[in-house]
Amino acid sequence: MTPTAWPRVILEDDEVVGFVMANWDPENEIPEFRGGIWRLNVADEAKGRGVGRFAVEQVVHEARRRGYSQITVLWDPAEDGPEGFYLKAGFEKTGELFGETVGTLAL
Ligand SMILES: CC(C)(COP(=O)(O)OP(=O)(O)OC[C@H]1O[C@@H](n2cnc3c(N)ncnc32)[C@H](O)[C@@H]1OP(=O)(O)O)[C@@H](O)C(=O)NCCC(=O)NCCS
Repeated sequence: MTPTAWPRVILEDDEVVGFVMANWDPENEIPEFRGGIWRLNVADEAKGRGVGRFAVEQVVHEARRRGYSQITVLWDPAEDGPEGFYLKAGFEKTGELFGETVGTLAL
């Protein structure tokens, strides 16, 4: 496993309803990979109930604790992708990398 990875499952009662993996790597030569969300998945049956928003809040909390002033995420710009979700969470589109949209959230 990558030592900079920060994987967490999200529970609702005893059920796993989501998975988020952040990455904390402040020295990474690619600025977009210094701190932020690598993966976020919410179980189909739990979508639309705030689990994704909760996951972003937890990553933000951890980023602040580590002294970050911003976090990034890359998403697939496809119509049915998560862009609307990340924009609603406060991310701004700040570029493109490897064909994906880069979103940045100032903390
Ligand atoms: C994108 C994803 C993480 C959202 O999780 P979720 O738990 O359904 O989202 P939430 O219920 O917390 O939604 C928060 C807000 O974003 C909105 N939203 C959620 N998904 C959206 C989408 N795809 N487009 C636009 N708005 C969206 C919700 O309506 C909600 O708005 P509100 O605050 O007005 O109520 C989830 O759909 C998912 O796992 N998708 C597949 C994997 C993926 O794309 N992961 C991200 C790539 S790293």
